[in-house]
Amino acid sequence: MSDDLRSFVQGLPKAELHLHLEGTLEPELMFQLAGRNGIALPYANVASARAAYDFTDLQSFLDLYYAGCSVLVTEQDFYDLTWAYLLRAAEENIRHVEPFFDPQTHTERGIHFGTVVAGIVRALDDGQKHFGISYRLIMSFLRDMSPASAGQTLEHAKRYGRHIAGVGLDSAELGHPPEDFEEVFAAARGAGYHIVAHAGEEGPPSYITGALDILGAERIDHGVRCLEDELLTARLAMDRVPLTVCPLSNVRLRVVPDMAHHPLKTMMDSGLLVTVNSDDPAYFGGYLVENYVAAAEALGLTRGDIVALAIASFEASFLEEGPRQERIGEVQRHAAAYGFEGTASTL
Ligand code: ADE
Ligand code: ZN
Repeated sequence: MSDDLRSFVQGLPKAELHLHLEGTLEPELMFQLAGRNGIALPYANVASARAAYDFTDLQSFLDLYYAGCSVLVTEQDFYDLTWAYLLRAAEENIRHVEPFFDPQTHTERGIHFGTVVAGIVRALDDGQKHFGISYRLIMSFLRDMSPASAGQTLEHAKRYGRHIAGVGLDSAELGHPPEDFEEVFAAARGAGYHIVAHAGEEGPPSYITGALDILGAERIDHGVRCLEDELLTARLAMDRVPLTVCPLSNVRLRVVPDMAHHPLKTMMDSGLLVTVNSDDPAYFGGYLVENYVAAAEALGLTRGDIVALAIASFEASFLEEGPRQERIGEVQRHAAAYGFEGTASTL
């Protein structure tokens, strides 16, 4: 049963819209890059690195995640990181990705913005060429750094024109509300970037409202705490605001007590446009297929639910209408081959 489910999910064309490239850094690659760059790691080996991934909340995870980033130095390092993810994505039949990267994590260490972007974009272009995986790259501001630093990062990004499609907001949420970043997001909107923001992961529903009304977010990353506010939930459903939900992440960071209590199905039943994503798969124990399978098993999702989630992943993407409909057609053909009718969740 579970093998059937896994192969159904694996074969299903999917988009991934909430994925931090730095969060795909597997300990094996971390050690390889540390060796290449002569950087000492606080772990004796790969096994002890994995054993150290014992977080209790978002901040304790972020401390390890930022420490791991110290091995990323050269353009080739960022290429290798991104390429390793794309190999997984191709295996999992991910057809479109909108990954995040955190420029400030690297520029703070003296790495040039251009080095980071060049490595990532070269890999994404190769992924498009070799596997047909389309992409829109999103840079995220760290909300626990200053708005002025975000502003400088935006100025850097403007020099890289078409390579960066969107701007997001991530890192420690509590105590760092969206309104702190009103000005820089207004500038990003003015410069034509798509806008997304992490909100309602650990933070309250008011951060989701702030992300929408103050930052102009087109999509909310996580957003699971919206269910605490009925009016907000109704608004998100009515306006078809996509929520990029990350089930394994929410369990590992104790946003929810366990997968059986994850609100994904309740969110779907509330008419929300939800998608499933992996967030930081090297740290949370599973890539995209594993997130679908774990949620489906614990919450009793039907094949129809799973198909609706895959369709939603393209609906919620920043693809233009033509390619978006082509991808949705691919999902529907896969579903039909298994005897399911895939219907767009807007119907
Ligand atoms: N950066 C990487 N993963 C994150 C998450 N789950 N929440 C906020 N910032 C992040
Ligand atoms: Zn995230």
